[in-house]
Amino acid sequence: MAGHVPARSFSEANSAEAFAERLTLDSDAKAAKIIAATVSHIHDLIKKFRPTQDEWREVIAFLTDVGHASDERRQEWVLLSDLTGSSALVEEINSRRPTGATPNTIRGPFFRDDAPERVSGSSISLDGLGEPLMVSVKVQDLDGLPIEGAKLITWQANAQGLYENQQPDLQPEHNLRGSFRTDANGCVTYRSVVPSGYGVPCDGPVGRLLANAGLPLRRPANLHFVVRAPGFETITTHIYDAIDPNLGEDAVFSVRPELVYCFERAVVDGRAGKSVALTFIMVRAKQRRSV
Ligand SMILES: [Fe+2]
Repeated sequence: MAGHVPARSFSEANSAEAFAERLTLDSDAKAAKIIAATVSHIHDLIKKFRPTQDEWREVIAFLTDVGHASDERRQEWVLLSDLTGSSALVEEINSRRPTGATPNTIRGPFFRDDAPERVSGSSISLDGLGEPLMVSVKVQDLDGLPIEGAKLITWQANAQGLYENQQPDLQPEHNLRGSFRTDANGCVTYRSVVPSGYGVPCDGPVGRLLANAGLPLRRPANLHFVVRAPGFETITTHIYDAIDPNLGEDAVFSVRPELVYCFERAVVDGRAGKSVALTFIMVRAKQRRSV
């Protein structure tokens, strides 16, 4: 027909190009390039593994299940991103810091931004269950100068390796969560309980799929932190106990040597427990490029 440009015929040999041609109207857009590249990789996988129609329907069903398993208390998509190393890779690319600075790790699915404000020295364990732990934190800059007034948000699992928002009927609201401010010396102390390591959730589609594929799904015991201070890059990280047996195969690829600490034997509130002293080193926020 005069004036009509026929579409490229679609075939196994040119499938990715046939799709990408339809995006050329807006080819400078980053989104269009990402979509074309993603589709090209998907087509490559289909050509390599040659799924049957039924097998491809299983793929669609898996993705559907991931969506259905996600709600306000559970984020199955974040779990998929974390367990495939995708979240750790995005952190690595976006938060490279000078030697000595505390590295970022993934935030994970159990963060809540509404941790209650607490005064230094108080306890974040609302049920008192577990081995006592005294945590001392110092926040400083790369020159060793203390950062006063930094906001330190912490959250952790209990002695059974479960977070408060995984057990809304068993743990008190906001158990093992707190928000603190550093003093003039950049310091905060608080009391808690020694967390246990844990398996990532295996009762959903992501855990089931990856467990069947033989992936290790254990996480070493950890304490999570977000540290914010004006003029500095926010630190999102967690720290680990040096004796944890799962340090070498963390399910979400988030153990860094700088984040491994010795938990020492200590008497806490008259009971046998442990203590750990942490130092977080912040870097100044980069100047934003003018546009
Ligand atoms: Fe954790």
